[in-house]
Amino acid sequence: METLGTVLITEEQIADAVARLGAEISADYADSDVLLVGILKGAFLTMADLSRQIQVPVEFDFMAVSSYGDATKSSGVVRILKDLEQEISGRHVVIVEDIVDTGLTLHYLLENLWVRKPASIEIAALLVKEGIQEIPIEVKYRGFNIPPDFVVGYGLDYTGLYRNLPYVTVLDPDDLPS
Ligand code: IMP
Repeated sequence: METLGTVLITEEQIADAVARLGAEISADYADSDVLLVGILKGAFLTMADLSRQIQVPVEFDFMAVSSYGDATKSSGVVRILKDLEQEISGRHVVIVEDIVDTGLTLHYLLENLWVRKPASIEIAALLVKEGIQEIPIEVKYRGFNIPPDFVVGYGLDYTGLYRNLPYVTVLDPDDLPS
């Protein structure tokens, strides 16, 4: 199949990064249970692949938030569409995100989750856009720093499309559906 746009990160590079993050998490949580919290929908592929690279027991939960709607700009307004099913009090939580852009979504989520008194919260993100965080966010497990372009693939969408691409690509304006 023809690739779409200008590929920024290949399938192989993603697999290598996810394996590295899995090894880091396995080492850091060797002595404690970890609850992975995937942020839907974008993180579903990272969650599936990363969790299979973690060698210690993990539990799963998911949250769904809306931040972007159908546009390519962050609104700064975050709405919880689906909350966690588990209590996280006393738990070691690792939030799994696809991408950190402005950081507004994670900032909101961190504030929301800390109120529930977990033992710890760390963040694993496949992609971090460089230099445009409106709020500094510490991403302990980070796949790639990327330029502040709009990207799709490997879970990331544009108007609901392209999440299934196995690579991360920068869409050319000509590729965008009108
Ligand atoms: P933030 O709140 O600006 O950090 O944005 C977080 C969310 O916006 C991510 O979880 C994505 O769902 C979405 N997002 C940010 N940048 C991109 C992008 O380049 N492509 C697709 N979705 C993006």
